[in-house]
Amino acid sequence: VDIDMPHVLIAGRIHSSGLALLKATPGFTFDLVDEVSAAAYLPLVDKADALLIRTQPLTAEVIAQAKHLKIVSRHGVGYDAVNVSALNARKIPLTIVGDVNSRSVAEQTLTLMLSTARRVIAYDAASRSGNWNERNTFSAVELDGKLLVLLGFGRIGKAVAKLAQAFGMRVAAHDPYVKAEAMKELSVEHLADINSGLARADFLSVHIPSTNGEALIGQVELAAMKPSAILINTARGGLIDELALDEALRSGVVAGAGMDVFVIEPPRPDHPLLTNMKVTISPHAAGLTKECAERMSVMSVQNIIDFYKGTLNPALIVNAKDCGAE
Ligand SMILES: NC(=O)c1ccc[n+]([C@@H]2O[C@H](COP(=O)([O-])OP(=O)(O)OC[C@H]3O[C@@H](n4cnc5c(N)ncnc54)[C@H](O)[C@@H]3O)[C@@H](O)[C@H]2O)c1
Repeated sequence: VDIDMPHVLIAGRIHSSGLALLKATPGFTFDLVDEVSAAAYLPLVDKADALLIRTQPLTAEVIAQAKHLKIVSRHGVGYDAVNVSALNARKIPLTIVGDVNSRSVAEQTLTLMLSTARRVIAYDAASRSGNWNERNTFSAVELDGKLLVLLGFGRIGKAVAKLAQAFGMRVAAHDPYVKAEAMKELSVEHLADINSGLARADFLSVHIPSTNGEALIGQVELAAMKPSAILINTARGGLIDELALDEALRSGVVAGAGMDVFVIEPPRPDHPLLTNMKVTISPHAAGLTKECAERMSVMSVQNIIDFYKGTLNPALIVNAKDCGAE
């Protein structure tokens, strides 16, 4: 290892575009560990100046062993597996990649709305099993002209509104931190509280941060909705109460649901929603597109390059204050 050349440890396989960027940038050497585990990168940390890390833990013990470490770049936006105070003690910045997946999550939200409304899964199964006559149930519904109620109007909520409007939907949103005027500019109706949208919603989709287990939509809220309503959760498990939703679907209180997230992931094999054919399910995959993997790879490498060039965006440094970068 050249003492003047920053040595990068890429801990876990990343999209090839990020590697190509690093190779094309003069002045860096690097090690690449394919496996995403703490054990796999540990033997290489002592010679790393920069560490690019996937989802595996970065503990205080490992940070102590990384004697030359000057920058840690997360391949993503969450950093619950990183011991930030151990980094702060040595004024080592921790970077994240910024908004890379709100469009991917918004697309998946529309995917779940469309596939539930148009009964994609049920029609596919019927077509393959010889039940062509399923078409005569006239059970699919359209998005056009329907009211979509959004709970949470942040990055993802806004992106969903735009896509839904392209399908001819009317959109209303509740978000205590977004002004009515800001919604109006996007042709979105402002809802003062959650309840005011429930009885009118044809579709309801949640886009707020986790409330630590407290459901926003439970039995009472479900009972206030139309029997034709379709609910979507691509935010965090539990924002829509899973057992209350299952019960409401089975008893006809609401019509359908699309779920990307669960309280316990993966859901236990006996979870009632797994056998409920009124639900379309995806495995917490709303943000996991090829394009998103590429953006995370390129941006997490770029943050390391920018750090050495002195052009790192402070907004992407998690501990800017504590490491003196602010
Ligand atoms: N399924 C996935 O793979 C995936 C990927 C990325 C993000 N997410 C989740 O999507 C959700 C939204 O992410 P985002 O990037 O849009 O976040 P964001 O911070 O941009 O927006 C969240 C919005 O929710 C609002 N809010 C907070 N509490 C509220 C409440 N009680 N009622 C109404 N609005 C409330 C906030 O004011 C904010 O505007 C988060 O839960 C996030 O974890 C899921």
